[in-house]
Amino acid sequence: MKYGSIVVLTGAGISAESGLRTFRAADGLWEDHRVEDVATPEAFERDPVLVHRFYNARRRQLLGGVEPNPAHRALARLERDYPGEVLVVTQNIDDLHERAGSRRLIHMHGELLFVRCTRTGRRYPVEGDCSVSQRCECCEAEGRLRPDIVWFGEMPLQMDTIYEALEACELFVAIGTSGHVYPAAGFVEVAAGAGARTLELNLEASRLGSVFEEGRYGPASEQVPLLVEQLLGG
Ligand code: NAD
Ligand code: APR
Repeated sequence: MKYGSIVVLTGAGISAESGLRTFRAADGLWEDHRVEDVATPEAFERDPVLVHRFYNARRRQLLGGVEPNPAHRALARLERDYPGEVLVVTQNIDDLHERAGSRRLIHMHGELLFVRCTRTGRRYPVEGDCSVSQRCECCEAEGRLRPDIVWFGEMPLQMDTIYEALEACELFVAIGTSGHVYPAAGFVEVAAGAGARTLELNLEASRLGSVFEEGRYGPASEQVPLLVEQLLGG
């Protein structure tokens, strides 16, 4: 069998069993704030202290003992053992794919463990809280660091690379995403239009469920290892 390339899109659902709440299951409420109210450039302009506090709480949770689950590990195994190319595109801002061993990985919404200078765009790893009084090395000034995360209304990262991979892949798999947020929600149509097989793994059919050729429903920690076993000819 010719081993074509595989593109995997992951959403909050793949990290749910690692203990990180998803967005819409928590009906979008985080510490009494709607994600849309704290994950926008306007929110940061209006109240940077609140936005830093919102992301500091999520960073502390991530660094406080959250581990990759069997779904993350199965995707790392697929990249390692599958003869064709495997690219993981995640909407998640956690580092669980990296910690599970995935290397060909794109964070289209940015990364919680990085901040960036709003003047120079320079990124810095952050292992704890970030605040408005913190100085960036590039400017030696306070108040210029923001979470290195793509907010509502901002453009996701590396879209050219993603569309190129979608147009060339033989299989597109979406795992643990509700299909509410574009442009990620449009990826299945790009892949299908280019002739790829399309498969959705979720607890239940997402709002795009009917667009996929096939859906497999159940916890990602069970469904993803089963799929990888099958793809590796096990
Ligand atoms: P948006 O509402 O600005 O829409 C993004 C694009 O998708 C637009 O071109 C819009 O026309 C299109 N679109 C929206 N709904 C559509 C639909 N039902 N059918 C077809 N096209 C549709 O995007 P957003 O949801 O506000 O998010 C803006 C960006 O912010 C997105 O790129 C998203 O990836 C990112 N984001 C990041 C976070 C985060 O926490 N990191 C949170 C939310 C969104
Ligand atoms: N296994 C598989 N799927 C799961 C699991 C699980 N254990 N738990 C939840 N899910 C599914 C839910 O059924 C839902 O379809 O994961 C999906 C989570 O959807 P959302 O909370 O909307 O998260 P996501 O799709 O990643 O949101 C997209 O919106 O708020 C923005 O930037 C944020 O990246 C996020 C984007």
